[in-house]
Amino acid sequence: MTIDLAALPPDFLWGTATSAYQIEGAVAEDGRSPSIWDTFSHTPGKIAGNDNGDIACDHYHRWREDIALMRRLGVDAYRLSIAWPRVLPGGDGPVNPKGLAFYDELTDGLLQAGITPSVTLYHWDLPQVLQDRGGWPERDTALAFAEYASVVAERLGDRVTHWATLNEPSCSAWIGHLEGTMAPGWTDLTAAVRASYHLLLGHGLAVRAIRAAAPGAEVGIVNNLSTVHAATDRDEDVRAARRLDGHVNRWWLDPVHGRGFPADMREVYGVELPERAGDMAVIAAPLDWLGLNYYFPVTVADDPSAPAPRVRTVRRLGVPRTGMDWEVDASGIETLLLRLTDEYGPRRIFVTENGSAYPDVVRPDGTVHDPERQEYLERHLAACASAARKGAPLAGYFAWSLLDNFEWAYGYDRRFGLVHVDYRTQARTIKGSGHRYAEIVRAHRERGRRAA
Ligand code: IFM
Repeated sequence: MTIDLAALPPDFLWGTATSAYQIEGAVAEDGRSPSIWDTFSHTPGKIAGNDNGDIACDHYHRWREDIALMRRLGVDAYRLSIAWPRVLPGGDGPVNPKGLAFYDELTDGLLQAGITPSVTLYHWDLPQVLQDRGGWPERDTALAFAEYASVVAERLGDRVTHWATLNEPSCSAWIGHLEGTMAPGWTDLTAAVRASYHLLLGHGLAVRAIRAAAPGAEVGIVNNLSTVHAATDRDEDVRAARRLDGHVNRWWLDPVHGRGFPADMREVYGVELPERAGDMAVIAAPLDWLGLNYYFPVTVADDPSAPAPRVRTVRRLGVPRTGMDWEVDASGIETLLLRLTDEYGPRRIFVTENGSAYPDVVRPDGTVHDPERQEYLERHLAACASAARKGAPLAGYFAWSLLDNFEWAYGYDRRFGLVHVDYRTQARTIKGSGHRYAEIVRAHRERGRRAA
């Protein structure tokens, strides 16, 4: 498959991504306190196979080996997240020096390897102590997040320039507080809407905190967005698709761009926002970039009996699906990149996650053959390049994920890595898709060198 690499800027950042709870393990080491994911994953029945992140990829001890893998892939950048409960085990208040030291060393290790760290502050692992005080539905959690952001930015800001506040806040709010299949496992619309509000308030406060502590920081937010299609052209279904678009896309983009929370969705939820004077300006703090996580499109029909946003997803037949049972549609990433460009005018966009899970095995010859993931990667990169060609200010792409890891409610059963992990031995094996990614990165670099 041809990828129009010439459409990507010469300084395009090629990266891979992970998150703390999904790979680090060492959950009780060096002063880390439990997060809501420790609690949730240790609640019987919540996670496939009753798996948990206690050991995960043991990255806390093997990070040097993992940096060496990134070097073999030839990537420029690594998107990691910081575990809040390692840095501030009490949620706020005293800093845990050992927790910060881990990320300090990791940052230095990456820079020494010529890899740019891109740091996400919150990838869902809220300290349990803050959950015990009410969690994201409470305003104090947003204030604590700003304090935590300031501590991390003060420590790493002399070396880290790429900062993201939140990863996929819609998952924290909607899946964590409305659907209940992610931590903290609530099914309460009012709590979910309040959580969404405080997540975005926390984001805005953290943007300020990062800029104050680390002048020159480039700050963004990472949203998982989907293209949304109506199952039929009946008015009810078209309106249902508009509601789901509001739920997963506009609710998260509009306030951050100074447009407030979408009025139609406020009506759909019917929940009063815990708004105070000045909040909306904080939430709309100017950003340097937007992060897009894209995996799949969604098709929906109207369902008046379903909870807000009152839709039911419709399974399209005859389309390819990944091991997550997610539909494969690379055109969606192009559509979203162009939509972000046209409707929100970001200075730069990074694809901060994109990838696919398939049931990989290490073959007797020690290789992992994953042609479906390779094709998914190529198709999505081609769509990204096409969006760039049409004017999207696309500045980088982070493949999800560097490693197979703890896939939340699916446990270790779903493998997204460019690198296979044998959880029994912790052996890492670069998959065929990883080798292909390295080739693409090299080809883009070569082209840049020739042009210079
Ligand atoms: O593994 C997750 C990641 O933590 C957030 N984005 C989606 C990925 C795949 O489900």
